[in-house]
Amino acid sequence: MTVKITIKKTFTSLLLTAAVSASVAQAAEVEVLHWWTSGGEAQALGTLRDTLKNQDITWKDMPVAGGGGSSAMTVLRSRVMSGNAPTAAQMMGFDILDWGDQGVTANLNAVAAAGNWDAVVPEALKRFSKSNGQWNAAPVNVHSTNWVWGNKAVLDKVGVAVPGNWDEFIQAMEKVKAAGVTPLAHGGQAWQDATVFDGVLMATGGIEFYRKAVVELDEKALTSKTMQLAFDRMRQLRTLVDDNFSGRDWNLASSMVINGEAAFQMMGDWAKGEFLNAGKVPGKDFVCFRTPGTQGTVTFNADQFAMFKVDENRRDAQIKMASAIMSPEFQIAFNTVKGSAPARTDISDAAFDNCGKKAMADLKEAGANNTLVGSMAHGHASPAAVKNAFYDVITAHFNGDMSSSEAVKQLAASVKNAI
Ligand code: BGC
Repeated sequence: MTVKITIKKTFTSLLLTAAVSASVAQAAEVEVLHWWTSGGEAQALGTLRDTLKNQDITWKDMPVAGGGGSSAMTVLRSRVMSGNAPTAAQMMGFDILDWGDQGVTANLNAVAAAGNWDAVVPEALKRFSKSNGQWNAAPVNVHSTNWVWGNKAVLDKVGVAVPGNWDEFIQAMEKVKAAGVTPLAHGGQAWQDATVFDGVLMATGGIEFYRKAVVELDEKALTSKTMQLAFDRMRQLRTLVDDNFSGRDWNLASSMVINGEAAFQMMGDWAKGEFLNAGKVPGKDFVCFRTPGTQGTVTFNADQFAMFKVDENRRDAQIKMASAIMSPEFQIAFNTVKGSAPARTDISDAAFDNCGKKAMADLKEAGANNTLVGSMAHGHASPAAVKNAFYDVITAHFNGDMSSSEAVKQLAASVKNAI
């Protein structure tokens, strides 16, 4: 009889323990929607997964491939609309403000106050992380788009130096072409065309023009000769890519530079993550430099994890995730792998390689000189509808035979339509 009771008791307590740990396991879980699916990106994301694992938080992965995040944003919309928002979603710029305005994001004010985020997150990022005084997102990094990545051995072999201005850049690529190597590795996807355009526009018009055109959407700037020249330069670049560029993913274009099949790639500094992931060393195997003619200016974009309202039992893991993202240790661990600069102003550059140090120094300088501006291609210059208007015209021009004068006409018309 005694034995029976003991067994029964043990069985009940086992059941209870199982039930409790199941609910704990479920509660201590974050579901994360993101578009970090390339080798370098996955490696960087792994640092976040590991940080949370150390706190016994389970990671439910929700990857949606596609650089620039347009596809991820489409999936996110349907999830939120069907009442099934993820814990957190990778997000950029104006998209965060959009969700903040809709009242579906979680209030991170308490964890932000505890971590003193207001003091350490730069204003350029904070204006997107917060709406109406409420923190909705934890910023992970600062990337920028006006970069060029070059294969050092190819450049040395062909005998070209790092170009100092646009004309030298084109001459260098012509020389590479004559040597039988693809000058520019590119993937013909709208967001990649637009990423290249960020740098070309800045090189062509400078900071004031860039701001007028893509931030203020000034019609005169949009239809100007300078804008036309930017499209002419896109046409120049079109002659320097290989025949199979159409639809190619950005990381495959990076691989072409990594393998010496191509000399250069014009891409944000997430490309550096691919070089590092392939075991390449900056300065030795590859070089990084600002799009010729843009040194001193930075077209930035920052990835943030926007948090959504979740059930009370999932809130703790969500807050822990937000807090972990903003910790200095995580910012260093993640950004040294990802290719980006930290999203905090108080991090030393000691752990960063030369390209990372340059990214941090350039950002600081641009911030101080008011030459830091949001990337059009990556949602930091204007809301999604306007960004898409730019995408449409830039990609139609690059991939077809539209003249530059027709492109500026169409650009002004589609931007007007989107406002
Ligand atoms: C993001 C980067 C990402 C890149 C390519 C950009 O929009 O900011 O973090 O690596 O897209 O996927």
